[in-house]
Amino acid sequence: LGNVGDRGNALSVSSMTSTTSSKPTRPATPEHVAIIMDGNGRWAGKRGAIASVGHKAGIDALQRTVEGCVELGVRFLSVFALSTENSINRAAEEVTFLVQLVRSVVSDRLDKLHKEGVRLRFVGNLEGIGDPHFMKIVREAEILTAANDTLTLTVALNFSGTDDIVRSTRAVAQRVRDGSIDVADIDAAMISDSLSMGYIAPENREPDLLIRTGGERRVSNFLLFELAYTELYFSDVLWP
Ligand code: IPE
Ligand code: IPE
Ligand code: MG
Repeated sequence: LGNVGDRGNALSVSSMTSTTSSKPTRPATPEHVAIIMDGNGRWAGKRGAIASVGHKAGIDALQRTVEGCVELGVRFLSVFALSTENSINRAAEEVTFLVQLVRSVVSDRLDKLHKEGVRLRFVGNLEGIGDPHFMKIVREAEILTAANDTLTLTVALNFSGTDDIVRSTRAVAQRVRDGSIDVADIDAAMISDSLSMGYIAPENREPDLLIRTGGERRVSNFLLFELAYTELYFSDVLWP
């Protein structure tokens, strides 16, 4: 039954323009927006620049998006910065550049984000990135901003939706083995709680709207479990 409300939220996004009121009404604001930020490389290529220039511009676009969310009252923003498949398939230099870019953005803009009331959280296989300095900066930022509640910004880095489900399944299986639960106790809520997004309250955990820029119309192994009832919006605009 808990999901019925979530579906209602998602549906209200698509009914934004169906009002018959004579007054201009503000469209319903989705509570939780997810974004697959795609198109940095092509954006840079069009300007005769290398991909890293596009990634830098992509960070500025994310900053503007954060400000827009705060202004509009979006309370949860979850962005896909790097998939596990990206970190395997792309040149090591590009992945290292991206990680270092994110690291310096977190150090440089942390105070500003904190003042704006942003709670910052990273999900994905961060250990797998193999940069202890990055881990330290990220964990400190998470602790500093943990009590903020204007906007919860989740950054998925070296993230795989299928891996996340596997990890959750293992955690639940371990509880069966410990004897703390029975197999019959396993339900969707328990799986969801054990996923990376499980740190967000269940009523806000599932995005109302997913935006993917850059022209591809696929989910690319982002939040598989949480996107079950999410409205999907694909744009040809390149992310930066
Ligand atoms: C998205 O931009 C950022 C990452 C996946 C890291 P891309 O780097 O995929 O840009 P395009 O798709 O090549 O233009
Ligand atoms: C998409 O990565 C994931 C992110 C934008 C983080 P790509 O642009 O490489 O696209 P796919 O993985 O081929 O769909
Ligand atoms: Mg791409």
